[in-house]
Amino acid sequence: MFRTRRLRKTENIRRLVRENKLSVDDLIYPLFIEEGENIETEIVSMPGIYRFSLDKISKELDEVVALNIPAILLFGIPALKDEEGSETWNDEGIMQKAVRFIKKNYPSLYVITDVCFCEYTSHGHCGIIHDNDVDNDATLPNIAKQVIAQAKAGVDMVAPSGMMDGMVQTIREALDNTGFPNIPIMSYAVKYSSAFYGPFRDAADSAPTFGDRRTYQMDPSNRDEALREATFDDQEGADILMVKPALSYLDIIRDVKNNFDRPVATYNVSGEYAMIKAAAQKGWIDEERVMMEALLSMKRAGADIIITYFAKDVAKVLMRK
Ligand code: PBG
Repeated sequence: MFRTRRLRKTENIRRLVRENKLSVDDLIYPLFIEEGENIETEIVSMPGIYRFSLDKISKELDEVVALNIPAILLFGIPALKDEEGSETWNDEGIMQKAVRFIKKNYPSLYVITDVCFCEYTSHGHCGIIHDNDVDNDATLPNIAKQVIAQAKAGVDMVAPSGMMDGMVQTIREALDNTGFPNIPIMSYAVKYSSAFYGPFRDAADSAPTFGDRRTYQMDPSNRDEALREATFDDQEGADILMVKPALSYLDIIRDVKNNFDRPVATYNVSGEYAMIKAAAQKGWIDEERVMMEALLSMKRAGADIIITYFAKDVAKVLMRK
């Protein structure tokens, strides 16, 4: 008789046949850095996650290093917004200041920057607006300027999240032509127009003031289109392909993993974090077990890298084991 239960009998045999494991090596921790001083504001819908000003960030970074988390992903919240998001290419802009500060004081930490405009534009969209929509080709030169400013500040890797066509090629050329051929690109290749970003938009103050992002982010109904998106970014030279969000898009993670010879990252986004935290606070679920199971499902789907607000919590659990 077939007895699949033989290999489930004890924890030791289960350890031997276990197919997927979470490791702290897989994790990237997102951080929100706000222009100003003395800021340490907890985000209401993301318990345990804060907006920090640079003078308040060291405690958090010390913890990330102590937990052996390899990398952080930075989002900037500027004091000044304008139509174009020009703070993104200002050498004294918050992102550039943050990168210089962190690379100086925590040289071993791998620093990744978000490349986008929505936190920096007065209208909250991810590029230049013409005729009530983001103008793809007018936005590309500004993406190049933003990336060069981040590169000059000393960033290790850039992560474009704006879903503009041609953004990866633009960034690759900009970096190569300015003496930064070794900075890799982790592209938000497959990014859906998702309601799961709700808490992030409060955190990063980046909700659009009119319309939505459906003319540039993907329709959640589409699966085949994800391969087209990933193909373009792969051909344009993305070093890592990202699928975002994670939990409702595990099928897409597996498709990208099976079809491309690139490391696959996924973003366990703010709404996914908020749901688990909220249910746990009500006492309705076991937070630690649900968190570990959710992240494990991303590994099983094929993610090599997981960007998650749970990174510190997961690292603590893994240290105990
Ligand atoms: C855009 C960006 C967003 C997220 C990461 N980068 C928001 C959006 O597209 O509206 C969402 C991350 C999250 O929800 O955790 N710069």
